[in-house]
Parts: sequence; C-alpha cells; structure tokens
Amino acid sequence: MTAAVPPRPRHLLDFEGWTPERLTALLDNADTMNQVLERPVKKVPALQGLTVCTAFFENSTRTRISFELAARRMSADVVSFAAGNSSVSKGESLRDTIEVLTAYKVDAYIVRHAAAGAAHLVARYSGKPVINAGDGRRAHPTQALLDAYTVRQEFGSLEGKTVAIIGDIRHSRVARSNAELLPKLGAKVILCGPATLLPADLAALPGVTLTTNPREAVRGAHAVMALRLQSERMSGGYLGSLQEYADTYQVNERLLAEAEAGAIVLHPGPMNRDLEISADTADSERSRVLKQVENGQAVRMSVLYHLLVGRE
Ligand code: CP
Repeated sequence: MTAAVPPRPRHLLDFEGWTPERLTALLDNADTMNQVLERPVKKVPALQGLTVCTAFFENSTRTRISFELAARRMSADVVSFAAGNSSVSKGESLRDTIEVLTAYKVDAYIVRHAAAGAAHLVARYSGKPVINAGDGRRAHPTQALLDAYTVRQEFGSLEGKTVAIIGDIRHSRVARSNAELLPKLGAKVILCGPATLLPADLAALPGVTLTTNPREAVRGAHAVMALRLQSERMSGGYLGSLQEYADTYQVNERLLAEAEAGAIVLHPGPMNRDLEISADTADSERSRVLKQVENGQAVRMSVLYHLLVGRE
C-alpha cells in the first residue's frame, strides 16, 4: 500500500500543511521563474483570465510590488486595494471590504494586515485562495520562502546549514516564519536578541535555539539575518536605549569576524542603517539584501503558480 499524499494546500497562510517535498518543489519552480525573468519578454500566460487582488491594510514596498509584478508577469489581471485610500477610512469592515472585492470576481487574494489571523478571515469571507503577505507579528511566509531560496541559491542546499537571526524577534513575523520553514528544509535556526525581545516559547520549535549572545549566534552560521526593531508593534520599554542596542546587537563587520568566512548577510527590509545593521555591512560583498529583493519576484511567481494553476 502506498502512503497517502497530503492534499495540496489551498492557501499559503503559514506553513501548516506544507510538506518539505511541496516546499522544495516550490523553491525548485522559483528557479524556472527566475529563468523567465532573464528573458527579453518576461511574461508567460499561466494566469491568463484570472484576477488577483493585493489587499494591503498595512504599508509595504517590496511585498506588494513584487506580488503585483509576479502576477502580471504571469498574465493575471491585478487589482490593488490599499486601505489608506479606501472606504475603510469611513468605517467599512474587513468582511464587507472583502465581500465587495469578491463581487468583482477576484480569483485570489494577497493580504497584508496589522492583525494576526486577518488572512485566515479573508480566506473564510472570500472562499478564494489567499496568500498571507504578513499578518501582525504572526507570519510572513513568502518572505521566509525567499530567504530560504536565497540561502539555497548560495550554498546549493539548506541541509545542515545554520541561519542566525538577530534583532527584535518578539515582534517579527519574519523570524517566526523562518523558524517554522527553515528546519522543515533541513537547516538550523538560531534566534538572538535582548531577553526582552526573545520569547522563550520559540525554543520549543524543532531545529530552533535561542541565545542573547550575538557572538555565540553567529559562530558557525552560514547566513546572518538582521531584523529591524518593529517600533510600530512595540508598546512597552523593551530597550535601555537604541545606542545600547546597536552596541551589542548590530550586525556589523566586528560581529561578522566571528562568523564563517563565507557567511552571507540577509535583511528582509526595510533597513535602518547603522541601527540593526551597519551601512558598510549592508553594502558589503557578503550582503545579499538586494538578491533577496530580486528573488522575491520569482518566489512569489512560483507561489501563485502552485496555488492557482493545475490544481489536483
Ligand atoms: N520585507 C517586507 O515585507 O518588506 P515590505 O514591508 O516593504 O513589503
């Protein structure tokens, strides 16, 4: 008797239900999408006839633009909803907003919202495939996928690699999604930050360890990711001072002297130069920050393809 193949997930809300095999296929397919993006005509007909809505209730540069380009590169029609200039300002609810958009025959949603769980609600209200583009501090799965893809591109595989993530872990959906994804693909994750910004419960995740010591975090790491202080999600006094924080936790050449010779530097952006990452490190040979941005488009094309084309 052959083992039952788990059904293809209908949404990408987080990595629950996503097997390592499916995730690897998704990253493999991003290689093909990157080849499309190298052609003089960067367009394929895969999503012709479909309408994709980017529903952003929170600001974004990278995620929104790369998703819109990804959908257009695959010949979808794209409608951009930005809460700031919508009837949300007149009190319209999330449910009513999504029901209005769905009445216009939207086929899939890409959702960013400040509230954890908002993308799940959009899936329920719309009945359409939903990709979570960041919900509060909970999850940002396509960011983790493009981070994983960038590390894999560098080293050929994630198996046996170590990724150190340094900064405001408490308020970071990027840290959570990477801590969920990378061990599924064979990598170890070290989460590092001041004790006030390092929730102890994350140590229960398989393949994840915590430390407040940045030198310990980077020792043996193949990739070092700096995270922004998420001041928009902070309500308490988590830090003595920004200078004190930078003196200890800034990803800079002094800290990277402790890392592997070939270690690369990542940052999901937006960066606060000379706070969580030094400007010279952000621009250094080791930096893959712009490579992450570039890979975001191919990875998001692959996610759209996986969810919207050729469903079993
Ligand atoms: N990394 C990221 O999500 O960036 P944006 O907020 O610009 O989309």
